[in-house]
Amino acid sequence: MKVLVTGGTGFIGRHLCAELDDRGHDVTALARSPDASDLPAGVSVEQGDVTDRGSLDLSGQDVVVNLVALSPLFEPKGGKTHESVHLGGTRNVVDAAEDAGVSRLIQMSALGADPDGPTAYIRAKGKAEAVVRDSTLDWVIFRPSVVFGDGGEFVPFTRKLTPPVIAPLPGGGRTRFQPIWVEDVASMLADAVEGTSTGDPNPSDSGDAVADERHVGEIYEIGGPDVLTMAEVAKLTRGGNVTIVPLPMAFAKIGSAVIDPIPFVPFGADQVRSLEFDNTTRDNDIGAFGVSEGDLLTLREYLRG
Ligand SMILES: NC(=O)c1ccc[n+]([C@@H]2O[C@H](COP(=O)([O-])OP(=O)(O)OC[C@H]3O[C@@H](n4cnc5c(N)ncnc54)[C@H](OP(=O)(O)O)[C@@H]3O)[C@@H](O)[C@H]2O)c1
Repeated sequence: MKVLVTGGTGFIGRHLCAELDDRGHDVTALARSPDASDLPAGVSVEQGDVTDRGSLDLSGQDVVVNLVALSPLFEPKGGKTHESVHLGGTRNVVDAAEDAGVSRLIQMSALGADPDGPTAYIRAKGKAEAVVRDSTLDWVIFRPSVVFGDGGEFVPFTRKLTPPVIAPLPGGGRTRFQPIWVEDVASMLADAVEGTSTGDPNPSDSGDAVADERHVGEIYEIGGPDVLTMAEVAKLTRGGNVTIVPLPMAFAKIGSAVIDPIPFVPFGADQVRSLEFDNTTRDNDIGAFGVSEGDLLTLREYLRG
């Protein structure tokens, strides 16, 4: 199949492009400044900006995977907003895909996506899901918890937030996450592209067209095998040598309100707000891909190397 991955040069995109290339597909990674050096030789790159509809030509593609990101971990800079990138970008990708006769769109959303949600990221993701659901395309939506792995920002970011010895964490670090390994995510995304399930005894053949209708119209909440608090993640990333002390949410909010306008401090009010809600699945939907939690890599195993 011909598959185009918007944001294909990013963290999840690179792993997905490699997985699709391994499975024999004709893969193109689209980004504003695409660099082919981190991608397998068989993957093509294309320049495009999802916020500029005129830069998107999806003709000839069977499937598009929309992985463009504006990270929720940092305050957006340079005039970019979650609304313009995640919502406006999705509108343009959907429009270009419909114009080009693309048959399937895989949309990367996030846990808790909700047009009325508590942060700009979550609201934009919720509105973008509605655009995808209202399209004429066959769609599949993924809502992952935090994703870890080589090239990801979750582990380095948590380490940065956690000074050695004593670490004050908002709310004592009680927010819960369900970290999932990037290669496990890439495998499930590739299954959604093909309409297969890797864990099945006889997955469908990944031929020239979308294999079957499996996964179409589904919204999958996916997470890893362990639910960990932020404090547990912080300790893991510091090898256990740290004492967590609670920084009351109210203090964190006042602090972030003060630092919000300062461009070189990345942590703002929305980031603190996002820590007031758990980032865990209601029902982990990984079973749709023929795998169970025991098949997935844990964060602890990954960090052990
Ligand atoms: N990582 C996680 O823990 C996590 C968790 C839940 C959901 N997600 C979602 O998963 C998706 C992928 O995340 P990621 O962590 O792989 O992101 P990432 O590493 O930041 O990659 C972002 C990609 O998007 C491209 N991009 C950014 N703005 C663009 C634009 N306007 N037009 C075209 N390309 C653009 C970037 O390349 P250029 O800069 O060259 O354009 C890059 O290839 C996102 O939708 C994210 O919200 C991620």
